[in-house]
Amino acid sequence: MNDTKKGNAKEAPPERKDLIPIFIMGKKYMVPSTLTIQKAMEYAGYQLIRGCGCRGGICGACATVFRLPGSYKIEIGLACQTVVQPNMYLTQIPFFPVNKAIYDMDALKPTGESIHKLYPEIFRCVACNTCTKSCPMDVQVMDYISAAIRGDIKLASELSFDCIQCGLCTARCPGELPQYHIGQLARRLNGKYITPKAEHLAKRVKQIEEGRYEEGLQKLMKIGKEEMQQLYIEREVEPQFAEEEWTPQSKDFI
Ligand code: FES
Repeated sequence: MNDTKKGNAKEAPPERKDLIPIFIMGKKYMVPSTLTIQKAMEYAGYQLIRGCGCRGGICGACATVFRLPGSYKIEIGLACQTVVQPNMYLTQIPFFPVNKAIYDMDALKPTGESIHKLYPEIFRCVACNTCTKSCPMDVQVMDYISAAIRGDIKLASELSFDCIQCGLCTARCPGELPQYHIGQLARRLNGKYITPKAEHLAKRVKQIEEGRYEEGLQKLMKIGKEEMQQLYIEREVEPQFAEEEWTPQSKDFI
């Protein structure tokens, strides 16, 4: 038994062997090599209030730029998805100020002119493709901007569909375009004016408005927690390979 144990003092935690140096906004920290940038920042003592949202690569709040030793290249990544590398220099860009047009969707037409008028800077695009190279979601940014310039709203909408609005494209664009706002406008125009309306949805909304589910809802609102749990447990679950026309036996709530 050694002296430390004799005195009942707490044992020091074993020294970690997997720590690597990284530089956060110029300051060096030793962090576990398996962490994402986001977790490494927290390990280093940062409390992430901005620049952190879903932690799952969806919300676009954690845009980050970094450089690796010996390389001239600015790399990009989402802090919640990118694993740290030894001696990386990094900083987060959780917000980048750009022009965001204000518009009334009901007053717009689904034409290229609508986009060109709200975002005339779109014509400053020099087709350098920096935006595409800066996208952590592998969106073909320059291609959707080109489609928007041509007035092909449907294509611009489809190509920009995976955009998470992190803003890294616009942060690096030499033409100073707000690509992600332009893509969002294309998707809004496509959704409102070009994509055929879902008839089954319109039918269901009408049924709701006409009060078809009112009785069932009122019934549900009145029952207690346990009864509700029981109802949930006993509910009829749609089989994995159900026919198109499948409906549950009990029609109490549909
Ligand atoms: S925290 Fe949402 S994308 Fe990283």
